[in-house]
Amino acid sequence: MTKSGKPRNPRNPRRLSTQLVRGGLSRSQHKETAEAIFLTSGFVYDSAAEADSRFAGTSPGYLYGRYANPTVRVFEERLIALEGPGAEECLAVGSGMAAVNTSMLANVKAGDRVLGARAMFASCLWILDTLLPRLGVEVVLVDGDDLDQWRDAAKKGVKLALLESPANPTLGAVDIQAVADIVHEAGGRLVVDNVFASPVLQKPFPLGADFVVYSATKHIDGQGRTLGGAVLASKANIDENIREFLRHTGPALSPFNAWVLLKGLETIELRVKKQCESAATAADALARHPKIERLFYPGREDHPHYAIHKKQMSAGGTLISFDVGGGRDGAWRFLDALEMIDISNNLGDSKSLATHPETTTHRRLTQEGRDRIGVKGGTIRLSIGLEDPADIVEDLVAALETV
Ligand SMILES: Cc1ncc(COP(=O)(O)O)c(C=O)c1O
Repeated sequence: MTKSGKPRNPRNPRRLSTQLVRGGLSRSQHKETAEAIFLTSGFVYDSAAEADSRFAGTSPGYLYGRYANPTVRVFEERLIALEGPGAEECLAVGSGMAAVNTSMLANVKAGDRVLGARAMFASCLWILDTLLPRLGVEVVLVDGDDLDQWRDAAKKGVKLALLESPANPTLGAVDIQAVADIVHEAGGRLVVDNVFASPVLQKPFPLGADFVVYSATKHIDGQGRTLGGAVLASKANIDENIREFLRHTGPALSPFNAWVLLKGLETIELRVKKQCESAATAADALARHPKIERLFYPGREDHPHYAIHKKQMSAGGTLISFDVGGGRDGAWRFLDALEMIDISNNLGDSKSLATHPETTTHRRLTQEGRDRIGVKGGTIRLSIGLEDPADIVEDLVAALETV
């Protein structure tokens, strides 16, 4: 829209930074500067006939907060603009898990086959290894970086596949394009959980993803204020199953939280770029430190999947994973000695946060499961915030003295 409310020439779209502050803007009759919060659960109709035509879909307008809301819609349109080519439609939900769950449950039925890359956030893994099998869906987990395993698993057919790249918590890469080709050849569709990379750094649709899901709780809010999530896809893929599933199962995003998240989108590009620069600085300092046994940062050439990360991501990301000596004791001593960086399992925040995956995010896995994805007793996952990088490094180095 232009300032006067006229639609803009679609052949002349605004550039990304502009879209992040103006995308989806739809001012009320009061012409407010900031986006309005429509904190309403329902909408009214001028006549019974109008209610009838809105429900029939023959006249435009909102129906009910569980289906759609004007503030939530601004957030969805802004996220479509950020995601770019391939993202024709977006539906926002109340959390990242609601987004992942929707992309899975809306698209499968008993008897279908689902493939998944084993290294993923533990709640996503629960959907694959516990919930879907309970509903009669066959699930096969593979090592995400082994394309032969994907090919073998796809031989018996695939309805849907889920992967995360970089993967939680050791930041391994999955070749999205190669897996998309394998899944499509077998007749299936690919869901990419793009949380760790963020929509600023990685665009899964041009690589072949059919659905992209976000925990907006992470970089999109990025300031530790609210939960949120989103499913993006082509219009056809959203209309086929996702829209109806959300309408009738109800994990709607609150309009207030949508407003917080769309304010997060205004600064996401600036925040993520600065966080990436500081993460690269911190990763280099840690990699040189004698107390660090192993370090993974997607932007460093010594990452075993550097070539794939470089192909898919425009920078190294905001997360670092490393092992300190002394196993779990060493890791806990390190965490407890941090003076500024907080101990928290959240990520993508303006505050730097460190977590011990073995005893928090990945505690429900068996020891064998953790071994397979490289989570050790001494593993720390570090999310770099917006503090001065010199302060971040100083805190890390001082805490390492205690290990
Ligand atoms: C990769 C990934 N996907 C999904 C989620 C779930 O997001 P939420 O906590 O917003 O439900 C998380 C949360 O940590 C995550 O790290």
